[in-house]
Order: sequence, then structure tokens, then C-alpha cells
Amino acid sequence: MLMHSFKYQNLSIMNKDLINDAKIVLNNNFQEKGYSIPCKGLYPFQWKWDSGFIAIGFAHYDLDKAKQEIETLLNAQWGNGFIPHIVFHVESDTYFPGKDFHLSKLHPLSNKDYPSTGMTQPPVTGFAMEMIYDIAENKKDVKAFIENNIDKVYLNHKYFYENRDPQNEGLVYIYHNWESGTDNSPIWDDIWATMNPPEYEFTRRDTNLVDPSQRPSKREYDHYLHIIEIAKQHNYSDEKIAELSPFLVQDPLFNSMLIKSNESLIALYKIIGNNEDKIEQLQQWQTKSISSFNSKLYDKELGAYVHYDLRNEKPLRFVSSSSFSPLFAGIPTKEQAKTLVDTMMNKFGADDMYLCASFDPESERFNPKKYWRGPVWINLNWMLYFGLLDYGYLEIAERVKSDSIELIEKAGFYEYFDARKSVYETEKGGYGGGNFSWSAALLIDLINN
Ligand code: GLC
Repeated sequence: MLMHSFKYQNLSIMNKDLINDAKIVLNNNFQEKGYSIPCKGLYPFQWKWDSGFIAIGFAHYDLDKAKQEIETLLNAQWGNGFIPHIVFHVESDTYFPGKDFHLSKLHPLSNKDYPSTGMTQPPVTGFAMEMIYDIAENKKDVKAFIENNIDKVYLNHKYFYENRDPQNEGLVYIYHNWESGTDNSPIWDDIWATMNPPEYEFTRRDTNLVDPSQRPSKREYDHYLHIIEIAKQHNYSDEKIAELSPFLVQDPLFNSMLIKSNESLIALYKIIGNNEDKIEQLQQWQTKSISSFNSKLYDKELGAYVHYDLRNEKPLRFVSSSSFSPLFAGIPTKEQAKTLVDTMMNKFGADDMYLCASFDPESERFNPKKYWRGPVWINLNWMLYFGLLDYGYLEIAERVKSDSIELIEKAGFYEYFDARKSVYETEKGGYGGGNFSWSAALLIDLINN
């Protein structure tokens, strides 16, 4: 008993230190213009889904910053409801491709005050808002903030359903790997194999800042740039992109974020009242989306959700951490959830591995050090933690949580982490950018839960 409480006392002191360190990371990455950079050098602007995670972290100790983070992102929304993946608030020579490459001004409805990319990222803003509401003590203050901003998020969802779902299935597509958030996942290799882009001449910046072996190759970048060139030739028209983009994918992670955020918007509209029409619309989207999700993206044989390649009309049958993200959005039935958890534990859950690698460790394409080709990412772990809790897998949820905390303790607030425990005996094990905002923000949230 004594030992037990001693252990917990130590743990909480340790967690307190970690939380303080996390706050330092977040405070240092917060910019005067009211948003946070993901990290210095490598990512010097505002990223859409990062902002949602960061705001959740701030909500635990600085509500003003949490609100500003979201408001600044929403200020950059376009006339058609679209919210871009990067907002270029400042000039910077440490990032490529920047605003002069993306040229968002080509789109007739783009926001001319905020140069941005012409692509988006997973729609996390809706559930981030609900979590800010849940975390904050001053509900009145947050309620006013929500009243002022929620319609923008609703319009963003409307944009998706009206422009990104050509077959009217309730599943929206992404047209670029950078829209997925899982930028260089091995899943995209199958799509790269269908393309033969020109060899572009350009100067990368990321490879000056991070070990190039942990980043995508030059040839992979040719593919990334080529898709953007096609979109630009058509002024980022959604119809033309749907017709011509060689990359057109229904992504389970992206659609899970949309479904989770739909649910949050419903809850928040109920709290603020007088929005029956929007609630009804959201519920209709929800019913359709969840049903298509389970019939189209669930792969019974693999026991996991997979991506669907809409351009080439075929499923991309790989298991990645995205395959389990529907748990976070309440999409699987209890039975499917059990299968998902079994798949996760069988493939990703060995005793000598931290949960949860970003890509199937049993696959030939698994690379434990390279970006989204294998390393653990804290945002996916954070989703898994809550998803597992919701479905009653308390022990595994606890493991995901304690693995996440241990990784950060051992390596620091890195962007991504080696899943192999043995690595930490001799190496740092944390890769990509350091002092990375969402690793800090979500650690604060995890420890507080
Ligand atoms: C990387 C990640 C992406 C993230 C961005 C900024 O590109 O793949 O998901 O939003 O960094 O942190």
C-alpha cells in the first residue's frame, strides 16, 4: 500500500514537470498574430488540424489562446466554406512549397486577405470546439465564443458534402496526400505507381532541417507538386479536381474526423439552441456517412477500415493507424470494434513495441524512422485512447496513454517516435521537428484525463 502511493506520488510529480514543459513548448510556439506554429523552422505557419489539437491543449490553462487559435484559423475561411490546410500568415524561407507556389488567389472565392494553400486537412475544428467547451470552467465565455464561430464550421462541413462527394455517398474525398495529414503514408505508393509526373526543379527546405532519410524522397515530392499543378491549372475548381486529379481518395481518418465533428456540432447547437434546421441537416449527413463508411471502408478480411481509391475505383488494402481512428468517432459496431482491437493488438501490440505505429509493422513497407511510414504520432494515439475508452477497452486505452507519455518522457516533445522499445536504449528515438506543438498540447490533455 505504502509503495503504491509512493509510486503514484512520484508519477504525479513527474507528470507535473511534463505538463510544465509542455506549456513552455506551447507558449513558445504561439505567435503574435494569434495562432501557433507546429514547430520552429520546419513548419513556420498555421496548419489546420494542428490548430484544433493545439487549442485543446491551451483550453486546459489559457482559454484566450485556445479561442484565438480557432478564430485565427476561421478568419482564413474562403467564401465557399473551404478552410485551407496552411495559412501563410508571415513570410518565411524555411518552408517549401510556400504561398507563391500554392497561389490560393487563383480560386475565385479564396480569401484574399490570407494567402494559403488550395487544399485542406482533416476537419477537427468541430470536435476541438466541443472539447474546449467541456474543458473550460467559464462556460458562459466559451458559449459566446461558440455562438460566434460555430456557423463557420458548419459551412465548412457543408462545403465538404456539397463539393467532395461526387457519388453522393456521404463519404468525402481528399485530392492530395497532404490533405490526409498522413503525408507520406505507404498507402499512397499504389497511387504514385499510376502516375508519371515531370521531374520538377525546386529547392527543398525540410531536408536542411531534418535528416533526409526521415523525410519523403525528391521523386515523391514530384508527385505531390504535380497534383497541385493540375489543380492550379483549373484555378482549384472542385469539379475539375474531381474530374482530373490522379489522387482522389476516401480516407477513413479524414471521414472519421468529419463524422466526429458533425456529432460535436449537433451537441453544441443543442447547447446554444434555436438551430433545429442545422441539427437536422447534420443528423442526415451523419446517418448516411456512417452507413456508407461501414459498408464501403470496412474490410472484413483484414479486420480493419481501409482507404478507397476513387480515381481507380479500388480499395487500398493496408492497415495503418488511420484504420482504427473510426473508434474515436463511434463508427464501428461493438462487434467491429472488437475485431479492430484484435487486429491492432495482433499487428501493432507486441510487448517490445510502443502503441501505435502509424503503419502495419508486419508490412514490407513499414519503416520505423520515416515520417508516416511507421513511427508513432501522438495525435493518432490520443484519438485511439478516447476511442478505446468509449468502447470499453480500458486496459488497452491505458496502455496507449502510458506509452504516449513514456515516449515523450524518453525522447522529448518530438513530432514522431520510433515504435521499437529497444531503440531507446541507445538512441533518442524521437524524430522530425522538436518542441512540436500537438505532442505538447495532447500530452496535457491526456494527463488531465
Ligand atoms: C506534417 C504532418 C501534418 C501536419 C504538419 C504540420 O506535414 O504530416 O499532418 O499537419 O506536419 O505539423
